[in-house]
Amino acid sequence: MSKRIDAIDLNVYYGNFLAVEGVNISIEPRSVTAFIGPSGCGKTTFLRTINRMHEVLPGARAEGQLLLDGEDIYGPGVDPVRVRTMIGMVFQRPNPFPTMSIRDNILAGHKLNGTRMSKGDADAIVEKSLRGANLWEEVKDRLDKPGSGLSGGQQQRLCIARTIAVSPDVILMDEPCSALDPISTLAVEDLINELKDEYTVVIVTHNMQQAARVADKTAFFNIAGTGKPGKLIEYDDTNVVFNNPANKQTEDYVSGRFG
Ligand SMILES: Nc1ncnc2c1ncn2[C@@H]1O[C@H](COP(=O)(O)OP(=O)(O)O)[C@@H](O)[C@H]1O
Ligand SMILES: [Mg+2]
Repeated sequence: MSKRIDAIDLNVYYGNFLAVEGVNISIEPRSVTAFIGPSGCGKTTFLRTINRMHEVLPGARAEGQLLLDGEDIYGPGVDPVRVRTMIGMVFQRPNPFPTMSIRDNILAGHKLNGTRMSKGDADAIVEKSLRGANLWEEVKDRLDKPGSGLSGGQQQRLCIARTIAVSPDVILMDEPCSALDPISTLAVEDLINELKDEYTVVIVTHNMQQAARVADKTAFFNIAGTGKPGKLIEYDDTNVVFNNPANKQTEDYVSGRFG
């Protein structure tokens, strides 16, 4: 079930270094939101706080609130492992488990969670997830072959299938097409467009055309200089951010004057 995300006064640290400061944002369910901005402005860092992946690094922490349909995922007693099931993540480089079959890649999350299920139920999850990732037709005859035998674009869709197999509410993607060729990129973009019917999708992209193609809303982050924290500068309908931004920094960035 697609859920809403609200960040409230979120600060993100690596040790003493404040990498991202004071983010306030409401991300709509059943939509695609893009994070854009120059390298180092904290897009990845902020994205990784949304499913508590950030804190796995030693000394890394977040302050403030992050609400998933109103529940603070940083609240006392909240299990970060459960958070990462509800809020899945897809990375820059496709990272299927290389020695596992396509089928076992899809079921990996369930196995990790210790879910017991019949072969029929497992088969149903595999098919539904691969269909959901627009990959079923391409792999249905080779489910027992290793995931690493697929093309880069197929591997990325396999990773998306693996993410949706555990029925998350939110899917986070960090530059998911940056290692893909243009045809595979379009396949993943088409998929992102379909995913928003069921999930809240957040995508970091350095490609402004991609943001314009896939995102309903766009958040522009910027940084005042090295060692300074990244900040959310402007957040609006994608169309507004690209064509009629309210902030001068946004205008300079989207018109290619820097970054
Ligand atoms: N593991 C880390 N340890 C310390 N600082 C980091 C780490 N990862 C990123 N940073 C710093 O945090 C800031 C934001 O980086 P990042 O989130 O990767 O930016 P972006 O994804 O927008 O390019 C940068 O100053 C970067 O050097
Ligand atoms: Mg990044």
